[in-house]
Amino acid sequence: MYQLIYLIFLLIFNFPIDLCIETNTRIVGGNITDIKHLPYQVSIKYFGLHFCGGALITRNTVLSAAHCFTESLTSVSPFYAVSVGSNTTTGIVYQIKSVLVHPMYDPDTINYDISLLTLKNNVTLSETVSLIQISEKDSYTTGSLATVSGWGYEKENGTLSTLLRKVNVPVINRRDCKQLYQNMITITRYMICAGFYEGGKDACQGDSGGPLVQNNQLIGVVSFGMGCARRGYPGVYTNVANLVQWVKKNSNYQMNYGVKNFCVNRLLISTVMIMVYAMQVV
Ligand SMILES: *[C@@H]1O[C@H](CO)[C@@H](O)[C@H](O)[C@H]1NC(C)=O
Ligand SMILES: *[C@@H]1O[C@H](CO)[C@@H](O)[C@H](O)[C@H]1NC(C)=O
Ligand SMILES: *[C@@H]1O[C@H](CO)[C@@H](O)[C@H](O)[C@H]1NC(C)=O
Ligand SMILES: *[C@@H]1O[C@H](CO)[C@@H](O)[C@H](O)[C@H]1NC(C)=O
Repeated sequence: MYQLIYLIFLLIFNFPIDLCIETNTRIVGGNITDIKHLPYQVSIKYFGLHFCGGALITRNTVLSAAHCFTESLTSVSPFYAVSVGSNTTTGIVYQIKSVLVHPMYDPDTINYDISLLTLKNNVTLSETVSLIQISEKDSYTTGSLATVSGWGYEKENGTLSTLLRKVNVPVINRRDCKQLYQNMITITRYMICAGFYEGGKDACQGDSGGPLVQNNQLIGVVSFGMGCARRGYPGVYTNVANLVQWVKKNSNYQMNYGVKNFCVNRLLISTVMIMVYAMQVV
């Protein structure tokens, strides 16, 4: 009897592991996605209206773009909030305590387009709310796919999407991207480009500040582009790997670094439970 209860408990605990593993392999295809696949994605809102995306990097820090705020704010009106854990922009709401915009951010060059939001409270982690690690790589393989997500426009001059969407775009080498944007803006080492030369897949208005992810690590922040998904104009993202020291200096990211996410914890608990069960059977 005791063992039966234990077995049932074990099955219940093991069930979500499959979901977690699916989360990590990221099945390509489809535009609308489940927040469970991108649980680090947040919506940043003002008066309840979504205006930018962001990524949860610690339980009380959201990494976003500088151009979403343009200036640092030591205290923020309660009308600013972050919403987490939902397919829509109406998830669990957390108020923002302060906003730090990179001091070198320049709206003319769009260089250093990064900001850190400190929340008033720590978020509760779950299957739909979890943290993402920042990539510290020097460079990425040209053509390798990365996932960008958000509730932004479904087309240039379009409207916001009710449901969270994602698209996979290939990383473009900086030299090629520099050439493509040469008449418009200088592509710096604090930028990373991703998109198809022929266009058609991209981030757009309302996705700003949102995450570009490869191998479960944050590699970019939606920064700018010439229109959306236009031929010859890939999306330009903030290259977070070159700004990670600034993030560590200005948040509790270092402390959270290597934090086990919800799925890993479950996996550990399940492993221990299986071992205990096996021992009982013997
Ligand atoms: C994804 O979006 C594109 C463009 O809006 C559309 O052509 C395509 O059918 C969509 N795919 C799915 C699986 O919904
Ligand atoms: C989010 O959307 C997916 C389908 O895309 C659905 O299976 C899931 O139940 C939704 N989650 C919530 C919390 O509504
Ligand atoms: C958030 O969690 C950290 C430890 O992870 C703790 O130091 C801090 O006091 C917490 N903040 C709040 C507002 O609960
Ligand atoms: C979107 O609007 C801008 C400004 O009105 C215009 O220049 C651009 O051509 C429009 N793009 C599309 C795809 O309609």
